[in-house]
Amino acid sequence: MYGEIKMTTLEIKDLNVSIKDKEIVKGLSLKVKQGEVHALMGPNGSGKSTLSFAIMGHPRYQIKNGSILIDNESILGTSPDERAKKGLFLSFQYPSEIPGVKYSNFLRLALNSLRKAKSLEPVSVIDFHKMFKEQIKNLGIDDSFASRYLNEGFSGGEKKRSEILQLSILKPNIAILDETDSGLDIDALRIVAENINRLAKEENIGVLIITHYQRILRHLHPDFVHVMVDGKIVKSGGKKLAEELEEKGYSDYVKEVIAE
Ligand SMILES: Nc1ncnc2c1ncn2[C@@H]1O[C@H](COP(=O)(O)OP(=O)(O)OP(=O)(O)O)[C@@H](O)[C@H]1O
Ligand SMILES: [Mg+2]
Repeated sequence: MYGEIKMTTLEIKDLNVSIKDKEIVKGLSLKVKQGEVHALMGPNGSGKSTLSFAIMGHPRYQIKNGSILIDNESILGTSPDERAKKGLFLSFQYPSEIPGVKYSNFLRLALNSLRKAKSLEPVSVIDFHKMFKEQIKNLGIDDSFASRYLNEGFSGGEKKRSEILQLSILKPNIAILDETDSGLDIDALRIVAENINRLAKEENIGVLIITHYQRILRHLHPDFVHVMVDGKIVKSGGKKLAEELEEKGYSDYVKEVIAE
């Protein structure tokens, strides 16, 4: 390798997010660098999905205070599309079904739009199909995916695999994955976790994975674990914190917040 490789950092500083004037995220700070895997855990309703929608730039979420920066530049006020062009990838708990859009076409257009933003040539239909086939083979996804319509009739596990497929083709710098999906069986959970590890290392993707499944940590081996309760990160740590959560759950942290 020659020259310096530019590493992207997503930084959230003292962020407050409200929905319909109700404060949900209450002064949250977090930094995710390319190649790092962060797990954001916490009980239902603590504001995890709200945080991911706010990072994505969803208009329903009002930023009342603080900042969201990519490489020290604020992304507040920019469109989700612009955020994607800066290397962000967001996926959500309930991906929408878009009838009439074929999966492989959708992915090819998304890839080429990102390439255009980087002044790169578009990938041809033939080359894209080669790439697509190779990746679905890696992930054990059925060949028929290419001709299916976007998320239409995808099972919970298929949606998750599809998310990983999107990551492996779009290769964003930072991915926010909201994994709270009760439909995920233990095999799907393992496949998702193992591939997230692989992509973080091989493709140098920074990952913030939101989940309240302690058991995903068994396969995920995150570099950092954060516990979010009532709109704030109340504890951050490494592998040891993951083991502690696996054993005891969140009850200690929830009690602390209530006692405040
Ligand atoms: N569109 C909305 N309108 C009103 N309140 C909302 C809206 N979206 C979320 N909330 C509220 O914000 C709080 C945080 O919700 P959020 O979905 O961010 O939690 P979460 O941590 O992702 O929970 P889970 O683990 O269940 O996915 C909840 O009290 C929820 O009811
Ligand atoms: Mg959620």
